Amino acid sequence: MSRLLTPLTLRGTTFRNRAWLAPMCQYSATDGLPDDWHLVHLGARAAGGFGLVLTEATAVVPEGRITPEDTGLWNDAQTDAWERIVRFVHERGAAVGVQLAHAGRKASTYRPWHEAQGTVPAADGGWPTVAPSDVAFDGYAAPAELTTEAIADVVAAFAAAARRAERAGFDVVEVHAAHGYLLHQFLSPLSNRRTDAYGGSAENRARLLREVVAAVRAAWPEDRPLFVRVSATDWAEGGLTTDDVAHAVAGLADLGVDLVDVSTGGNVVAPIPVGPGYQVPHARRVAEVSGLPVAAVGLITSPAQAEGLLVDGAADAVMLGREALRDPMWPLRAAHELRAPVTTDADAPVAWQPQYVRGAWR
Ligand SMILES: Cc1cc2nc3c(=O)[nH]c(=O)nc-3n(C[C@H](O)[C@H](O)[C@H](O)COP(=O)(O)O)c2cc1C
Repeated sequence: MSRLLTPLTLRGTTFRNRAWLAPMCQYSATDGLPDDWHLVHLGARAAGGFGLVLTEATAVVPEGRITPEDTGLWNDAQTDAWERIVRFVHERGAAVGVQLAHAGRKASTYRPWHEAQGTVPAADGGWPTVAPSDVAFDGYAAPAELTTEAIADVVAAFAAAARRAERAGFDVVEVHAAHGYLLHQFLSPLSNRRTDAYGGSAENRARLLREVVAAVRAAWPEDRPLFVRVSATDWAEGGLTTDDVAHAVAGLADLGVDLVDVSTGGNVVAPIPVGPGYQVPHARRVAEVSGLPVAAVGLITSPAQAEGLLVDGAADAVMLGREALRDPMWPLRAAHELRAPVTTDADAPVAWQPQYVRGAWR
């Protein structure tokens, strides 16, 4: 029996398999509203057999968007737009999660294919950014330091978005605390120079993440899983190490986190030693220290590679990003390569859509 194609249950949700779609910004929304593009992007991957599809970083407040074209979950129209997508994904037998995010000092930037890059000026629809301290990300505008009142508003915004996620029908909420966005900015001494209760010691720098996780857990139904994505290392002198982050994550276990999605980097410009499965050892270490289930991500591209790392016990699930952009049907290919039975049963670990089952045979 393939480990990749073995279901995983967390709280009241059973994921039909362990091949999950990584969160990936599409930079294609208007006013934070997901539209037909998002329906097709996520819907195709649900039809392709992924056990869980995660949305892109979805902002909890307008100023928390990475780009003006990011999706959001701060109003009713966005909740309704997501509800349509959630329904389509569920009909394909996949679970669906929303990644809730605030970009902090990395907000208000141009999307990757815009002719200009860096911070979007107000004249072009940009906005002032906020962060733990007034330290700019390399090449971006300097953020304003958040007051303690404004920090409380951020916590409340994450909780409000989690309530909207329930109304939209999502199965999972993932709190985005990775890639140099606001919660990572607080965790890392490279971006957090505060001298109050939110800065200084490791415990203080983790305070905002703990408050957000506790508030989201309280707002999110008891039977639905809560994930946190972290960057296990800053890959930089004086920054967070994997053991720092693993210990911060261990402190989240008692707050009701069900799985940690382990990425790396993004808070400062730094060289990253990229290669096949390059973040897997970080996932393994976070699991060892925290005792929590983990997902591994980063250049996991072949079914045999994914199967091997799961059998090895390095992680409980794998997420695919760029490979899933090339091949939305990757889990079906994996099922074929791992010799799983061909079925159209929506409850099976990998189900062919009846419209596509001819593709299972020559
Ligand atoms: C186009 C694109 C958009 C991304 N957007 C997000 C995002 O919204 N949230 C996030 O946590 N990671 C994001 N990532 C990172 C991926 O989730 C993933 O961690 C990374 O690409 C490494 O996995 P891969 O080698 O399978 O692509 C993005 C990656 C790509 C390629």
